[in-house]
Amino acid sequence: LMDNRRRLKDIFICVLVGVTLVFIYFVYDNESDHLYGPAYKKSNVKVSSPPEPKWEDPGPYHVAYPQNYRFVMDNSPTCKTTTPFLILMVPVAPSNLEGRDAIRRTWGGKKMVLGQLVETVFIVGLPGGVDANQEQARVKQESEQYRDLIQSNFQDSYRNLTIKTMVMLEWLAQHCANASFVIKIDSDMLLHVDNLVALLLDPKTPKENYMTGLVWWHSPVLRNPFNKFYMPTQVITEPEYPPYPLGMAYVMSLDLPKKILSVSPQIKPIYIEDAYLGMCLKRLGVSPTDPPDQRMFQVIPRHPLSSCDLSKVIAMTTTSMSQMHIYWQRIAQGVHC
Ligand SMILES: *[C@@H]1O[C@H](CO)[C@@H](O)[C@H](O)[C@H]1NC(C)=O
Ligand SMILES: *[C@@H]1O[C@H](CO)[C@@H](O)[C@H](O)[C@H]1NC(C)=O
Repeated sequence: LMDNRRRLKDIFICVLVGVTLVFIYFVYDNESDHLYGPAYKKSNVKVSSPPEPKWEDPGPYHVAYPQNYRFVMDNSPTCKTTTPFLILMVPVAPSNLEGRDAIRRTWGGKKMVLGQLVETVFIVGLPGGVDANQEQARVKQESEQYRDLIQSNFQDSYRNLTIKTMVMLEWLAQHCANASFVIKIDSDMLLHVDNLVALLLDPKTPKENYMTGLVWWHSPVLRNPFNKFYMPTQVITEPEYPPYPLGMAYVMSLDLPKKILSVSPQIKPIYIEDAYLGMCLKRLGVSPTDPPDQRMFQVIPRHPLSSCDLSKVIAMTTTSMSQMHIYWQRIAQGVHC
C-alpha cells in the first residue's frame, strides 16, 4: 500500500511539474512574442494608428462594457425625491444581506450628518448559480422593505466589478447631478461619516473634478501570471497604471460620473475597476488628490486602532463584521485625539 501511494505521489508530482512547465512555456512564449515579434514585423511598415478595436468578446482581461445594461430594480428615492449632499454607494454581492444589514445598523443608517443629508444606496447585479431565482426573490423583497437597493442586469461576479462601477456611474449621472459628492465604499469597510462630511464641507476641498481616497501613484502593472491582478503586456503595455484611488473607498464630486462616462468608450475596459477609473481620469486630464491626512484612508490598518488614530479615520478595512461594529460603537461614543 505504501509503495502504491508513493508511486501515485511520484506520478502526481511528475504531472504537476509537466503542466507547470507547459504553462510557463506558453506565458513566456506569448510575452517574448509580444516584446520582440510585432516590433520586428512592423519595422518596415508605416503603422498609422490602427482602427479602434471593438470590445465585443471581452476575453479574460476585459469586461463587457459598455453595453446597454439597465436597472431591473430601483425603488430608491435617493436623488429622485431628495437632493443629498453625500451618497454612500455600496457595491455588494446580491447574497450579502448580512453585510447590508450591518451597514444599515451602523454607518449607513445616519441620515443627517453635520446638517447635511447623507443617503445610502446598495448596488447589485444579477445573482448567478443554482439558487439564483430564490436569491433574486430575496433581493426583491429586501428592496421593497428598505428601498435602498438598485440592481442592474449584468451578471454579478468579482470579475465583473468594472461593470458594476460603470453602471453605478451611469445611475449617478442620470439621477444625482444635483447632489454634491459620492463615496463608493465596499461592504467590509468602516466609514466615519462625520469625518468624511467634515472633509467635504472644508472650503479647501474642490467641488468639481475632485476624487480622493488612498491614491496609488505608481501602481505597477503586474506581470506574474499567478498574481490575482495579472495583466499581460498585450493588454497594457505601460509598466504602471495612471494614478487612482484604491477601490475599497473613493470619493468623487458628482460632476465626474458624466465626464468619466464620456471618455470610457475610448478606454479598454480592463477587469481591475479602480485602475480602469485611473485610466479614464488620465484621459480626462483629471488627477486624483491625496487626502489631507494619510490616516484618513487605510487599507491595512494595525488593529486595534488607538482612539487618536480612529478619530482621524474616514474609511478603513475591517476583518469581520463584529470588528466593524466595535469600531462603530467607539466612534458613536466619540473618539478624540
Ligand atoms: C459579466 O457580465 C456579463 C454581462 O452580464 C456576462 O455576460 C459575463 O458572463 C459576466 N462575466 C463573469 C465572469 O461573471
Ligand atoms: C437640479 O436642480 C435644478 C434647479 O435647482 C432643476 O431644474 C433640475 O431639474 C435638477 N435636476 C435634477 C436631475 O434633479
